Amino acid sequence: MHGKTILITAGPTYEKIDPVRFIGNYSSGKMGYALAAEAARRGAKVVLVSGPVALPTPEGDIERIDVESAAEMYEATTSRFPEADAAILCAAVADFTPDHTATTKIKRGDDGMVLHLVPTRDIAAALGGMKRDGQTLVGFALETDNELSNALGKMERKRLDMIVLNSLQDPGAGFRTDTNKVTIITHRSQTALALQSKASCACHIVDALASLIHNS
Ligand code: C5P
Repeated sequence: MHGKTILITAGPTYEKIDPVRFIGNYSSGKMGYALAAEAARRGAKVVLVSGPVALPTPEGDIERIDVESAAEMYEATTSRFPEADAAILCAAVADFTPDHTATTKIKRGDDGMVLHLVPTRDIAAALGGMKRDGQTLVGFALETDNELSNALGKMERKRLDMIVLNSLQDPGAGFRTDTNKVTIITHRSQTALALQSKASCACHIVDALASLIHNS
């Protein structure tokens, strides 16, 4: 992967409700960081756009850009995509964000409260729209039901060249664990891998990406 620039998103996003509260998710960033480590190990220059995680930056030629919200991740990622040969979108981006962030801490009250949420922008779909010949786009799908058909639908809608499906139904797979069980789907093949470390999953995913880049 010498001479290639790989853009990777990782981790969760935090959507601010007030100065001390946010809407987030359980993503640890481990899968995205394992991908960054593997791509760098193979000689790529990595631009790692990271949501809030408790992980050190892996060794190698990795430029890490820390962001918090889906909007910040969108800005960082869309601005750096033109220079990339490929992007791997591994972040668990919030689908909704509060339409308004309170400037002071919201106080306890006797009544219930309603938070009004608005949709965030889909980074993967935006990159799919910007993608030029020779750029390769990889997404992830974490599904709880109709896994394969949902993943294939996302691949079409977001103009992805490859999608990595992980199921929440598999023990040891998904958020926060050090292991994952993934199916790598391209337009030509579907490869279901056994449960293994995220580092080892990253090796298979980067292999599949390298052959797509090589053939593009
Ligand atoms: O539609 P869904 O969120 O399940 O799609 C998952 C894929 O899309 C992942 O690759 C994820 O990183 C990406 N995504 C994104 N921006 C969003 C939502 C999802 O890049 N706002």
